[in-house]
Amino acid sequence: MSPYRVALRQTPLICRSFQPKSTTTTRQWPRYASSSRGGDAKSGGAGRFIAGVLVALVAGGAVVAYPTLTKESPKLPQAVVEYEKPRQLPESKEHNRDLISSQHLQVKQSWENPGLYAWGSNSGRVAAPDSTERVVKTPRRIPYFDDQLLRDVKLDREFGAAVTEKGDLVQWGTAFSKTNPTPVTTLKGKDLIRIEVSRDRIIALGKNGSVYSLPVAGSDQSSGNKTEQSSWFSFWSNPNAVSYRQLKPNNLGWGETVTDISSGLEHVLLLTSQGRVFSAASSTSDFPSKGQLGVPGLTWATRPQGPFDQPHEILPLKGFKISKIAAGDFHSLALEQDGRVFVFGDNTSGQLGFEAEKEIPFVDGPIPLPFSKLYRGSKQHPRVTAIAAGGANSYFAIDATRVAGPEEDSARDVGRVTADVWSCGSGIWGSLGNGRWTHVSLGPSKIKPLSGLYEFDETSNFVVPIRLARLSAGSTHAAAVMSNVTYVDASDNSSHNDTNWGADVVWWGGNEYYQLGTGRRNNVPTPTYIGPLDGGQGDAEKGRKGEQHRFQITPRTTVRLGEGGKGRKVSVEQRVECGRFVTAVYSGT
Ligand SMILES: *[C@@H]1O[C@H](CO)[C@@H](O)[C@H](O)[C@H]1NC(C)=O
Ligand SMILES: *[C@@H]1O[C@H](CO)[C@@H](O)[C@H](O)[C@H]1NC(C)=O
Ligand SMILES: *[C@@H]1O[C@H](CO)[C@@H](O)[C@H](O)[C@H]1NC(C)=O
Ligand SMILES: *[C@@H]1O[C@H](CO)[C@@H](O)[C@H](O)[C@H]1NC(C)=O
Ligand SMILES: *[C@@H]1O[C@H](CO)[C@@H](O)[C@H](O)[C@H]1NC(C)=O
Ligand SMILES: *[C@@H]1O[C@H](CO)[C@@H](O)[C@H](O)[C@H]1NC(C)=O
Repeated sequence: MSPYRVALRQTPLICRSFQPKSTTTTRQWPRYASSSRGGDAKSGGAGRFIAGVLVALVAGGAVVAYPTLTKESPKLPQAVVEYEKPRQLPESKEHNRDLISSQHLQVKQSWENPGLYAWGSNSGRVAAPDSTERVVKTPRRIPYFDDQLLRDVKLDREFGAAVTEKGDLVQWGTAFSKTNPTPVTTLKGKDLIRIEVSRDRIIALGKNGSVYSLPVAGSDQSSGNKTEQSSWFSFWSNPNAVSYRQLKPNNLGWGETVTDISSGLEHVLLLTSQGRVFSAASSTSDFPSKGQLGVPGLTWATRPQGPFDQPHEILPLKGFKISKIAAGDFHSLALEQDGRVFVFGDNTSGQLGFEAEKEIPFVDGPIPLPFSKLYRGSKQHPRVTAIAAGGANSYFAIDATRVAGPEEDSARDVGRVTADVWSCGSGIWGSLGNGRWTHVSLGPSKIKPLSGLYEFDETSNFVVPIRLARLSAGSTHAAAVMSNVTYVDASDNSSHNDTNWGADVVWWGGNEYYQLGTGRRNNVPTPTYIGPLDGGQGDAEKGRKGEQHRFQITPRTTVRLGEGGKGRKVSVEQRVECGRFVTAVYSGT
């Protein structure tokens, strides 16, 4: 049994203990807790948790205000537990909540101090632009982004890029500027909504579907041609203009726009509102040569006239309505709306997901990756619901629906959906998440700690699968945010035991630059928790220890930002971004 399972199992106990409302969803793990045990756990969990706080308090000799503690445990030795008289009710409520729950405090801090935390490699001054340390071992804020909400963030070891709330591009890192690697706004006024990064360029998607490709290096931006059409006049009339190229798929239909982009080191995939997929070269240094463009026969030598980075439609996908795209360093995935996955590009680590047949280093046109084989004999029908790719890895989220076998007309669980996560590709850094360190995967393997999870939804009285909310794959590490396990409704009106909590997020894979945020350098082959972003300063003396003291992510909520919720009203969520040996968590708009 993995530590993750054990840890997950403890969560509901804690959540439920401080979860007086019966109308909200709480977590229950049928595998471990029958309904009667669940009942016991309710009170037991509370008792144990409080006791845990107490023990730690005593051990630390802390001075803490928490009146109910003494009631709970009258035989407390001569520990110095002092408490203030509550002055104002709401304040003391919040104080109490912060004390009893690290998770509550984390949610609050994410609203009071939005911003960007980064960690991992700092050789390119990306994780901590102001510091010359080579690595940043635990989450640290980049002060430039304090109080900012961001639309997107992407990180390479040598450069970082972010899109501000207004849609402008901010860049930093030594590959952007050796002399001044701190964040600077570059491309402005394009209303950008998403960015992707190749080896040396940033690919940016505007709200209206325009796609821009610009060099990472600030020196290239100002010396290059502004656009193919730009004149010297327009150059001089706007000395701050940044040179970029536009990637324009031709023959788009009426009203058809680019809605998503995904870039590898040398190629970018463009998805349109009609479910068509185009690909283009996205790096200035190398033309894609491993089939990742999905256009059979297309090479540097055979490329058509015109710009080297003109988008090409991936014709074999025509007729399928593609809903999601994902690019690894040198490979590509496309998910059709009915759950079929197409793969193409580099396969040298087995990242295309096929079981061992013969060695085929790359595939230059999309081929469907069948999952039915993996579920053969399971009486389950698999359907891929989400894809992710990074480095030499691919990840697939699957809804497997129980179907009746030929000899059973009505098994009780027919129709029940299990949510599973599969991975394939290189496992040498642990990024398969399956506990193994294999160089090449011979077919997808299940990430067991993220598969087959359920929770009990008290509103509907159904047991529902816990799916992935988001999976971010960096070059050797990854993070998964689980869905549907959050509570953010604690208010002045609810009980002082009513605490908020965010979504669980787990991390695994390469950690050679401390990019997992565990504070240690060993690679981790199975999903694991990390500590709270703010290092829980002050938490140690408050005595919060153990599994509940872990980083959780605040789900999308409409709140007033700032201290005491007095700022502007926004819809905000925290997002995780695993990049190339660097990681960020930011307040996303
Ligand atoms: C949890 O997920 C289930 C199914 O996906 C959904 O019906 C339910 O409303 C969700 N609950 C919450 C609190 O979001
Ligand atoms: C898209 O928006 C940008 C600015 O936000 C503008 O410069 C560009 O002309 C627009 N493109 C189209 C096709 O509307
Ligand atoms: C800039 O654009 C002009 C005309 O479009 C072209 O002749 C020239 O080669 C370009 N220069 C560079 C450095 O791309
Ligand atoms: C992909 O690579 C794996 C591992 O080398 C191999 O078993 C598989 O047959 C390859 N698949 C394709 C389609 O090339
Ligand atoms: C708390 O209760 C008051 C009075 O019933 C109500 O006006 C207010 O909106 C409530 N606040 C919240 C956050 O629910
Ligand atoms: C809050 O928790 C304490 C300790 O478990 C308990 O004694 C108290 O009754 C709870 N209060 C409410 C309003 O739930």
